[in-house]
Amino acid sequence: MSARGASARLAFVAGVVAAAPGERVLEVGCGAGVLVTELAAAVGDGRVVAVDRSARMAAAATRRNRAAVDAGRVRVLAAPLLEADLRGERFDAVAAVDVRALWTPPSPEWDVVAGLLAPGGRVVVGFSVMDDGAAGRVPAEVARLAGERGLVVTATADVSTVPFPTAAVELRPARPRVGGGAPTT
Ligand SMILES: C[S@@+](CC[C@H](N)C(=O)[O-])C[C@H]1O[C@@H](n2cnc3c(N)ncnc32)[C@H](O)[C@@H]1O
Repeated sequence: MSARGASARLAFVAGVVAAAPGERVLEVGCGAGVLVTELAAAVGDGRVVAVDRSARMAAAATRRNRAAVDAGRVRVLAAPLLEADLRGERFDAVAAVDVRALWTPPSPEWDVVAGLLAPGGRVVVGFSVMDDGAAGRVPAEVARLAGERGLVVTATADVSTVPFPTAAVELRPARPRVGGGAPTT
């Protein structure tokens, strides 16, 4: 599906994220780093930070994106999101695919994600629709948990992929922050 060889589901999510040149993007739970490759190509001289709690996966993502890592355009962290040293960075987009923590209460990960967004930023949560109920259940739980942190669903999309369909939910702050300061009232 992708000219760069990403799996169809991750190429689909990359399309929903629609990262633009120069943007700063965080991927949570990057696994082997396939989406990282897509995102890095899209942001050009922007930046991608990828986090995975599995040291093995983080190492695989680093290997896969070695040239971009060496060039300083991609940084891969082996840590749970809650413990990752993100150096106070803010992101134009946060992406996560098949990371159950984002729809499993109480999901403190959403506190981190909501606090990392730059003004105008968005979050894209992708997931594999593994059973009949997931297409409704996962977005509803994402909307509820993210909603508790001031984010609202702004778009949904899905695509037929194998072995499971893939769906994505885009979220943005309900009240956009002005200049990166406190939420406006
Ligand atoms: C099902 S895999 C999906 C990997 C990749 N996103 C994909 O779609 O191919 C979930 C990944 O998220 C990572 N992960 C789960 N919870 C995490 C958290 N709280 N912080 C960082 N990584 C996490 C896991 O280690 C695993 O590599």
